Amino acid sequence: MSIRIDGKQISQQIKDELKEKVKNENLDITLAVIQVGNDPASTVYVGNKKKACEYIGIRSLAYELPEETPEAELLELIEQLNKREDVNGILVQLPLPAHMDEDKVIQTISPKKDVDGFHPQSVGALSIGQPGFVSCTPAGIIQLLKRSGVEMDGKECVIVGRSNIVGKPMALLMLRENATVTICHSHTKDLKEVTKRADILIVAIGKPKFITKEYVKEGAVVIDVGIHRGVEQKLCGDVDYEDVAPITHAITPVPGGVGPMTIAMLMNNCVEARGLQE
Ligand code: GUN
Repeated sequence: MSIRIDGKQISQQIKDELKEKVKNENLDITLAVIQVGNDPASTVYVGNKKKACEYIGIRSLAYELPEETPEAELLELIEQLNKREDVNGILVQLPLPAHMDEDKVIQTISPKKDVDGFHPQSVGALSIGQPGFVSCTPAGIIQLLKRSGVEMDGKECVIVGRSNIVGKPMALLMLRENATVTICHSHTKDLKEVTKRADILIVAIGKPKFITKEYVKEGAVVIDVGIHRGVEQKLCGDVDYEDVAPITHAITPVPGGVGPMTIAMLMNNCVEARGLQE
């Protein structure tokens, strides 16, 4: 029987632990959330982040800027928030409008308040094993594996996808857990041959139901980062769940797998940020 890794339950557990910590230690924490424009998906994500803050007892400050806001104005707002002692974390929802330089905006956020873990200083610290904020989705996947009792030490881990937000930090985190790590991408010659070696297969390619059982070793643990709206509006991942699940040891569903973990880890980073600003 394959184990269905329940991200909803594990994220709830993490949020409850954080809520308890905030209450017991009487922590005063503030997250500033900036959204530019009104991309509908971003509005949903930002709304969920605000709700999670409320649940845990973190104050959220919402900045909703019009689509045509000049880049300089956004940078000025970030500079002001960097200086404010009562603001612990700053999050700029991506994607930004085309006239803005995302890298420049991210680099303007103080690394001490970079709760998304996207600043080059945060990424650099992760790559040399120093403390710093870790990108929320890969950090959430590590928690899913640990809290499901999946051993990583010495295991073959194959990651499909090399994005800055998921694939690359995921590889660094798995390395930190002493896994043997391979990253595959669009130029990988024989993808099936590589993915079939994985004890732990992490998929973040952005193609609905791309990974079928021909890509997976019997008894592997499969983590699906993708989320897509398929036929009849039904959500699905990058992995063909019905096809793959029966041969796995454990697998994350979509929805209810990796997705809920991202927000739980953002909340965790906000609590950590408060610790840095004592
Ligand atoms: N857009 C999609 N995912 C994310 C995320 O994790 N953080 C931010 N800031 N924007 C996003």
